[in-house]
Amino acid sequence: RAMKLVSIPYQQIHKGSLILVNEKYPCFQSDVKELIAIEGIMLERRTAILLSKLMDEFEGWKYITAVSGWRSVSEQEEIYKNSILSNGEKFTEKYVAKPGHSEHQTGLAVDLGIRGVENDFIRPSFSDKGATQVFKSKAAEFGFIERYPKGKESVTKIAYEPWHFRYVGVPHAAIMKERHLTLEEYTEFIKQE
Ligand code: DAL
Ligand code: ZN
Repeated sequence: RAMKLVSIPYQQIHKGSLILVNEKYPCFQSDVKELIAIEGIMLERRTAILLSKLMDEFEGWKYITAVSGWRSVSEQEEIYKNSILSNGEKFTEKYVAKPGHSEHQTGLAVDLGIRGVENDFIRPSFSDKGATQVFKSKAAEFGFIERYPKGKESVTKIAYEPWHFRYVGVPHAAIMKERHLTLEEYTEFIKQE
């Protein structure tokens, strides 16, 4: 490779803001750091601070609302069970992580929706226009990534979720964006560097 962009201690991989929680890797209670309240949800402290800074850039909270942040494992269980009942198994597997395997349990993930419309809890509204587009264009600068991009469903094992953002920190977010890497791919990528 022409450029070595980042070097982080090996032990940092899968820890802190780069923690990987997915179908394969569960979230442990010890992975949950200090939580604070913001816009009616709870988020890990740093995630909340950076989200708030990002929103301050363009008065984002005027146009965007937080639909879901930190979830306990029992909340995820409720969401999962209720979705199976009302949406069926196929839909649920695409849009709801199994209890114990949701990155919402880390407090590093946030679901955002357009303010002033009725937002579905599992699939909030998030478009490619206006304030949501502004948010997306600034997200990486503040350490946030689109966690479940279109075209990477086979890697993340989750459907395209334009409303779900994950705090990974700077510079990771910028590198992931530039290289079109999911967190699954990025954590592999930095191990090879
Ligand atoms: N919607 C995401 C995948 C979750 O349930 O954690
Ligand atoms: Zn989410």
